[in-house]
Amino acid sequence: MKLAVIGTGYVGLVSGVCFSDLGNDVTCVDKLSEKIELLQRGEVPIYEPGLKELIEKNTEAGRLRFTTDLTAAVQHADIVILAVGTPSLPNGEANLTYIMGAAREIALSINGPKVIMTKSTVPVGTNEKIENEFRQFSLHPVSIASVPEFLREGSAVRDTMNPDRIIIGTTSDKARQMIEELHRPLTDQILFTDVRSAEMIKYASNAFLATKISFINEIANICEKVGADVTLVAEGMGHDKRIGSSFLKAGIGYGGSCFPKDTQALIQIAGHVDYEFKLLKSVVEVNRDQRFNVIRKLETILDDLSGKTIAIWGLAFKPETDDVRDSPAFEIITSLLQRGAVVKAYDPIATDNFRQNLEHAKVKYCHSAKDAAQNADALCVLTEWKEFRNISPTEIQAWLARPNLIDGRNIYTEEELENTGLVYYSVGRPN
Ligand code: UGA
Repeated sequence: MKLAVIGTGYVGLVSGVCFSDLGNDVTCVDKLSEKIELLQRGEVPIYEPGLKELIEKNTEAGRLRFTTDLTAAVQHADIVILAVGTPSLPNGEANLTYIMGAAREIALSINGPKVIMTKSTVPVGTNEKIENEFRQFSLHPVSIASVPEFLREGSAVRDTMNPDRIIIGTTSDKARQMIEELHRPLTDQILFTDVRSAEMIKYASNAFLATKISFINEIANICEKVGADVTLVAEGMGHDKRIGSSFLKAGIGYGGSCFPKDTQALIQIAGHVDYEFKLLKSVVEVNRDQRFNVIRKLETILDDLSGKTIAIWGLAFKPETDDVRDSPAFEIITSLLQRGAVVKAYDPIATDNFRQNLEHAKVKYCHSAKDAAQNADALCVLTEWKEFRNISPTEIQAWLARPNLIDGRNIYTEEELENTGLVYYSVGRPN
């Protein structure tokens, strides 16, 4: 099948590359010429395991190409995939400027009937607006479908190639049949819905996962007070198939480009129809507060943080990515600076991205975990990178000026900490 993918962000780039690997002919389009030139040279603008190799392989095979020429790409395609960003507006609503702009451009460019498949996360009703755009600006009939994306950063290629399910929201038989054919090699779990339900499934799924995280974080906070261990509690809960064990890892709260944005957007979507989504508002509030537990624990140990040197391990919002969007590390480091602390920070790959957003005389970005920890008054682990797990607590103690370790992701076990003399605070476990 011939595909044009509009937008080479996480969703567009990974989907386009994976579809080409399945044997389809894929043209990825972006307005940013620097990004397209980079991709044409075989370089990848994001860090995502396995992606570079797949780009090389499929570009060489002639199935994958990158261009800024939207018109040529959509005219060549059977299916046009919309995968442009829908970032948050200041009030939390999704900004539809880019997606409606792209729809207009496609409408003005097409030279025959097309299937338009929206992968961007869009508020309920947006695909109908897109359809109207085509009615108004195109002479050719189009079939619209909402096919939301569920890939995670850091395992995006694996998730795309092995999806739990594919949702195809459309009323058009043609779109249904072509999109089903495109996805059949990936899974048998294909659910057909109407367009609005497909749009809602995406938000509801992310909101539910965010709810699980805030729920377990509150259980963790209670565990700390009653002397229970949240990792055992989560394990015990997870054996119940109705609950499931995933997304029950307590920590410093969720970040990234999706959960914070999509939870806010869903609150807004509900608000527009006069419904107050109370549960989700609390999920967001719990998440905001959870990151400050790190500060509270530091203050318990060190009292006044002014003039203290705090080491930070992990700046990315999660491991295996260089993405720092809405990373809890921003608020934690900013709070430390407000309290007069000096920060030494290290991340295996996200440092440059983080530094672009936070340059400060009292933040030193370090080249190694050891460099950051050396002579600090306390160390905080904010991202569970494997590299950190492989460093022994004994080593950490030797590097630190004072033996204080705040483990925001529960990467160490009680046994590893025994006999080390480290003052150790984790999340929701007896200390
Ligand atoms: C999330 C969803 O998991 C994907 O299904 C969805 O496609 C994507 O958003 C999106 O909407 O594009 P992602 O943001 O890449 O994916 O990362 P996750 O692995 O879901 O992690 C999100 C945040 O939750 C991270 O900060 C992570 O540290 C945190 N988290 C996750 C926890 O604190 N505890 C957990 O048990 C799981």
